[in-house]
Amino acid sequence: MKVALAYSGGLDTTVSIPWLKEKYGADVITVTVDVGQSEDFREVEERALSAGASKHFFIDAKDEFVRHYIEPCIKANGLYEDEYPLGTALARPLIASKVVEVALREGCDAVAHGCTGKGNDQLRFDTTISVLAPDLKIIAPIREWDLSRDEEIEYAKSRGLKLDYRQSRFSIDENLWSRSIEAAELEDPWAKPPYEAFKYVVDPVGAPDRVEVLDIDFERGVPVGLNGSDMSLRELVQELNVLGGKSGFGVIDHIEDRAVGIKSREVYEAPAALLLIKAHKDLEKITLNSKTLSFKALVERVWSQMVYQGFWLDPLMEALNAFIDKTQENVTGRVRLELYKGSARVVGRVAENPLYSHEIATYARGSVFQQKAGEGFSKIWGLDTVISARRRRKGKTV
Ligand code: ARG
Repeated sequence: MKVALAYSGGLDTTVSIPWLKEKYGADVITVTVDVGQSEDFREVEERALSAGASKHFFIDAKDEFVRHYIEPCIKANGLYEDEYPLGTALARPLIASKVVEVALREGCDAVAHGCTGKGNDQLRFDTTISVLAPDLKIIAPIREWDLSRDEEIEYAKSRGLKLDYRQSRFSIDENLWSRSIEAAELEDPWAKPPYEAFKYVVDPVGAPDRVEVLDIDFERGVPVGLNGSDMSLRELVQELNVLGGKSGFGVIDHIEDRAVGIKSREVYEAPAALLLIKAHKDLEKITLNSKTLSFKALVERVWSQMVYQGFWLDPLMEALNAFIDKTQENVTGRVRLELYKGSARVVGRVAENPLYSHEIATYARGSVFQQKAGEGFSKIWGLDTVISARRRRKGKTV
């Protein structure tokens, strides 16, 4: 049997190599997909080969990740349970699709991944693989084997695997869009995440005592520039992760509902994602009418849930994205944010074709809004409530 394994280079996927060989007598091909994680990919390749992989593939998918996953997420203001910008959830279908490509090209019988049976990642991998290549078998060694982290380390040592056993006590999944940090003391929802867990975000107490002004330009819902200069979205994300983090902004700490029914405490850092979504949302408020805004909020909720739960390739996603794209036609303009010691505040916005009209909104003299028309409108607006009160006064109930 020939297996293509989605290989991150971490403990789970490294022990999977000898396990697949021992259990299935498999020929293991490893595939590492670069979605912006900071990793020495040469070391990752060496680790895979020395653990017993017969071949290793490296695929740089950063631009594809930005263009086809991060962009739609910004347009959708994608935040699962209003908090999590979905970094891990977005990268999974992309990684899975790259591994499937290799598996089909190399004539594999199966695809393997290192997901456990307790998380969302298995759903994202399994669904994507089954959609793209229904004939490939799916093997998830960690889920099948059911080992604790300590037992895995034990096994890795017994097989002489070259891993850094002194590694961070946290389990980290990183890409351009977010860093998910799990395990150790973070499993106690009361324990404050230590700043050493973060790569970008510093303790706001020690952040520079100065306001950082960010002007973000958008074109049809997509960020295209920073502080007056054009910038690719990829550069922008990288830059904002650094700038936001330096000012102490960008941590998410919440209780999350996993698709498998488990409530878990999740900690992320995602300065760029939070800043861009905040700015984008603000620009939408001045460019979309109220009905579109309130309906889009429902669509955003469903969009985020679908992505989180592994349905990236479901036809509903295509339909939701088509709706969202239509709403972005006028979302062009600039948003100014101020960062200061852990906070990020929108302080101004300007749009190419705004719906906001100073002429109508102003309280100063010269407004074109006909105040007198307000009297009749107001009377009818409250009519239902006034009639109900009349009945109540007569002693009848609600
Ligand atoms: N809770 C997040 C999600 O489901 C993060 C998962 C992190 N995954 C990981 N393998 N460490 O998207």
